[in-house]
Amino acid sequence: MWTLSYLCRWIVALAALSPSAVPAQPPEPARPPLSAQPAEVDIFHWWVSKGERASIDVLKRYIEQQGIIWHEASASGSGTARYTDVLRQRVDAGKLPTAAQMIGFAIHEWAQTGLLENLNEVARREEWDEVVPLGIQALSKYQGNWMAAPINAHSTNWLWVNKAALDRIGGQAPDTWPDLITLLDKAKAAGILPLAIGGDAWEQTLLFESVAVSTAGAEFYRKAFIELDAKTLEAPVTATIFRRMRILKTYVDPGFDTRRWDQATDLVRKGKALLQVQGSWVDGEFVHDHLKADRDFYCFRFPDTQGVYLFNSDQYVVFKQGPGSKLTKQRLESTLMNPDFQSALNLMTGAAPARVDVSKAPFDACGQQAINDMRSANMRRTLMGSVAMGNANPPLVKEGIYDVVHRHFLGQITDEQAAQQLHDVIARYRNKASQRLRSNVSQVGKTP
Ligand code: GAL
Repeated sequence: MWTLSYLCRWIVALAALSPSAVPAQPPEPARPPLSAQPAEVDIFHWWVSKGERASIDVLKRYIEQQGIIWHEASASGSGTARYTDVLRQRVDAGKLPTAAQMIGFAIHEWAQTGLLENLNEVARREEWDEVVPLGIQALSKYQGNWMAAPINAHSTNWLWVNKAALDRIGGQAPDTWPDLITLLDKAKAAGILPLAIGGDAWEQTLLFESVAVSTAGAEFYRKAFIELDAKTLEAPVTATIFRRMRILKTYVDPGFDTRRWDQATDLVRKGKALLQVQGSWVDGEFVHDHLKADRDFYCFRFPDTQGVYLFNSDQYVVFKQGPGSKLTKQRLESTLMNPDFQSALNLMTGAAPARVDVSKAPFDACGQQAINDMRSANMRRTLMGSVAMGNANPPLVKEGIYDVVHRHFLGQITDEQAAQQLHDVIARYRNKASQRLRSNVSQVGKTP
């Protein structure tokens, strides 16, 4: 039946079609239904060195295999302000990525913005609680919710050693601090740069954290840097840590301060330097350059840190407003935690997978040791976050520690001043935190 309103709609529609009624408009392209739109992700990360590029390509491959279109952008800088600033600018400009690489406490800071997806649905379905080491879960979760997917568990308390250089000086794996000094002296006497390092504060702090565990032990590290108990740092051993840092500085070349970590790795690769103290991403660089563990290089635990796993876990957060449907995002989350993906990925990165249930069979000697060490440190609660990589404490504390360690490394302050200032960084943070807590508590009664 032709009702009046139906006729009116016809008339309006016909008028709209008449060329004199409205200026000609290009026809609107028909929008495919949501389910037929191409699935796509836009990934933001800091993996730009040669080995890191090979690593991100593994993720790209796993994503593309599912018919999902891959877009990416990167900014170097390992979770530093340099990287975070670029991410923040993108977010402010409304160009949110689907997911962004992130480490440590930065995850909690971003979780507080409310911009991140909660990953609980996939996490529950796939039982992430059961397989991710507890120390890592503490960073991936915020207020009990999974806010990030961890893809690996690097550790930082390693020596990466050029085998030919070691053989040339007749050196052996150093078991203790005096052994390490003997080894470095031998390299120096043979005209080989003993210790390669870069100029960024995070690299020097990375050396510092190994020296701290080695000198003062695991409980000291936990209390001082994870529980942030300033009193622990009043012990004379804090100055001893800095004294050892000053000794190590004498084995570094003058050009260190303009070098990046991967350029330092290159010096070890070419045998110009004997060793580098760095995270297991060095393994990734070596493997990328076709070097083989035990044939071309060795990985030794930093002396006196055996049994401790100072971890740095690369994770991905997912943005609610970033491109990609809910289904695509969940497929991405699931891929990031997939055991096969984590195996393939970490053969490239040099890290252990971020799950305790991935077979170590395909890994090289260093990878297998990393997996063994991670599993046993997880059981003994000696898997502790790396200070340098922001996995131990909030950015404010981390930056404060960087500053003290860096100025000490440059010889601008004495061991005792550094020990005092380190203590003050933690004490100041604790005071502020407890003031905040007190004012929150006193606000409670006033809420109308
Ligand atoms: C770390 C990251 C590693 C490696 C390293 C050097 O933060 O976990 O995967 O990228 O930085 O850039």
